Amino acid sequence: MSTQGGSGPVPFVLPGPPPMRDTVEGWERWRVTRRDFMPAPRLSLAEWRLLSPRKKSLHDLHRSATHANLQLLQTPMADAVTKLLHGRVMTNALKHKPTTRAGVMVTGGGYQGKTETGCEILATFEDIWRELHRHLNPDAVPGARDLHVPVAYVQTPVTAKPKSLCKAILNFYGAQLHPRMDLPDLLRQVAASLHDHGTRALLLDDITRLRLHRADDQDTLDLIRAFMSMHVTLVLIGVDIPGSGLLREGRHDPDTGQVTFPPAQQSKVHGREATQTERRFDLVELDRFRYETDEEIAAWIDHLTGVEDQLRLLKAHRGMLTAGRMPEYLFGRTNGVVGLLERLVEDGCQEAIDSELECLTEPLLEGIAITLGDPSRDPGAGEIPDTPPTGSDTAAKDRPVKRKRPRNTVFDDHGPAASTGT
Ligand SMILES: Nc1ncnc2c1ncn2[C@@H]1O[C@H](COP(=O)(O)OP(=O)(O)OP(=O)(O)O)[C@@H](O)[C@H]1O
Ligand SMILES: [Mg+2]
Repeated sequence: MSTQGGSGPVPFVLPGPPPMRDTVEGWERWRVTRRDFMPAPRLSLAEWRLLSPRKKSLHDLHRSATHANLQLLQTPMADAVTKLLHGRVMTNALKHKPTTRAGVMVTGGGYQGKTETGCEILATFEDIWRELHRHLNPDAVPGARDLHVPVAYVQTPVTAKPKSLCKAILNFYGAQLHPRMDLPDLLRQVAASLHDHGTRALLLDDITRLRLHRADDQDTLDLIRAFMSMHVTLVLIGVDIPGSGLLREGRHDPDTGQVTFPPAQQSKVHGREATQTERRFDLVELDRFRYETDEEIAAWIDHLTGVEDQLRLLKAHRGMLTAGRMPEYLFGRTNGVVGLLERLVEDGCQEAIDSELECLTEPLLEGIAITLGDPSRDPGAGEIPDTPPTGSDTAAKDRPVKRKRPRNTVFDDHGPAASTGT
């Protein structure tokens, strides 16, 4: 059904709350529905004017939903991460040998797309893996009815310690937790959960929230060693991993991008047998856009073209984001950080619809402050980047206060008169 349809259900509002990816069910629901959103159809101003008031409001709501659900675009930086991460996870998954799998660390600044890029890569891996195995756990013992969960996504709790990180992993699987479990117990249960579900990749997001103070260093490193002995590809995502202390004991080879951790000194790590092999990680950076060389500017403009193409403003013109001073202006506002651009464009579009300007212009965007009040991000771990100021101090001082969004009137009953209107 399109928004031009009658009074049926509104197709662009997903039923129920948005899927949280940090449980098996939530991850699965997100993975299978992640491409389902239908953007609003493109209408010219003349076509929009022909709609009835109710259809106009429905279409406007659909346009807002479209601007709030902008797609992930391929960027040269995300391509580099995809190549490495997908390749590593896939070859590790195909390995039969019981040797330790090399892991991958994805580092970058806040809001640069680490989480979304990482999840998309692992969801794509899972799509392929499930297809290969026709939805059967290839390791399942005949008769056993374990659920097949190729990918586990876990967000590190704020100021986590090794025990709370293990608990977060077990929560993903919905495993039973006993309050008195110690770290070796928890690790044993994590290993059992990963094995029983045929998990091939364990993504630990926001790993730089782990306490990395000197006193906890050994614990953290041992924890990572223990995870790496569990025959999964360990994927660690964090803000500025090299500066975080996580690599303190590792040797970083800038030529290969690999980090090598020495083998454990003791024979047991948290009650598990320590292996004497080194632990290897590929360290890959998901960078922001840059704006110096011709190539960098072209990549930024390419990204803006991809964003512009998704917008549904009635008076938008070609080159609205890509012509004249706009690319430079948008770079100045966002530092080339994809997440900041997304916020600015989404809020800018809402203002453009509310004010009936129906186009993004520099003066309109000057009035939009980039707000990052997102409770799921930890400012203490650098997950909220600084937002550059708008054009000038005076502009910031005199910035018009953003109008409150008008109440949505789509579902109001306007009485019989409304339905007979155009
Ligand atoms: N390639 C992309 N194209 C378009 N938008 C993107 C892209 N990557 C990320 N985004 C958008 O940027 C926003 C921030 O992305 P994400 O949450 O993945 O960043 P992050 O690096 O994990 O941030 P944090 O460090 O705060 O956890 C998201 O809303 C996402 O939709
Ligand atoms: Mg993130």
